[in-house]
Amino acid sequence: MGARDTLVPRLHIKSTAVGTSPSLSLCNRRAAGEVHEQLSMDRIMGLAVFGEKVAARTYALMADLKPEYSSLLRKFARMEGQHGTWFAKASAANGFRPDRDFANKELGYLIAQVDDHHRAGDFDALAVLQGFIVECLAIATYEPFIEVARKYVGLTEVFAKALEEERYHVDWMTRYLRLRFFDRDAEFLELVERVNTQGVDCVGGTLMNITDYLTCVGLSGADCAGGMTDEYTRLLERVGINEQRATRSVVRLFVPIIRKYRRGEKTK
Ligand SMILES: [Fe+2]
Ligand SMILES: [Fe+2]
Repeated sequence: MGARDTLVPRLHIKSTAVGTSPSLSLCNRRAAGEVHEQLSMDRIMGLAVFGEKVAARTYALMADLKPEYSSLLRKFARMEGQHGTWFAKASAANGFRPDRDFANKELGYLIAQVDDHHRAGDFDALAVLQGFIVECLAIATYEPFIEVARKYVGLTEVFAKALEEERYHVDWMTRYLRLRFFDRDAEFLELVERVNTQGVDCVGGTLMNITDYLTCVGLSGADCAGGMTDEYTRLLERVGINEQRATRSVVRLFVPIIRKYRRGEKTK
């Protein structure tokens, strides 16, 4: 029996069957209406596949702005494009259909920010947005997903490979920013907060919008959000910001969106 055959019965069970068998990976949270595994994975994989394409485009735009780093950044762009292709293939192998409309809606605000920074010729803002927000979110979600994805065919492998490469991108980005802002902490923090107030509102908002889908497939939105703030704090420290200042900056950035979530307000 093929992998897809083993999954199909589980993926097409309607919510009316909730409670008939806890082993069927069903969930139906009132807040989200009908949420089931197929819908959840279609949307999560939609964000993964098309989010990778956005990352590829961002690196290509960064390459345009700095010819001296162009060949490396184009290589990063190709790697991100490849991640998207791996994820799309692995989705198909499991019968998931990455939801492009959903992803476009979620990623539109991020693309607009990238375009604004590119139009302004602001390479450092793109480095911060890509390095601290996009890569950080990828790392915070791919890491726990590697374990959860063991129940699917080939997903663990591709997420593990992508995660390793995201860390490589982040390494370069933090080294670049460390040198660029060496001994200019205040200026760096001003840039980070200017860029990321919008960035966190955008990707943090997406994380909140997919909480029910994450729960449905066995991930915790709170854990991913916690992972993102931890990863983000570490990145600030790697660029040279001391722990106390880094923590203050993270709190200032993340608290508004946590409040919005708690109050049920729209994030973007
Ligand atoms: Fe990637
Ligand atoms: Fe990356």
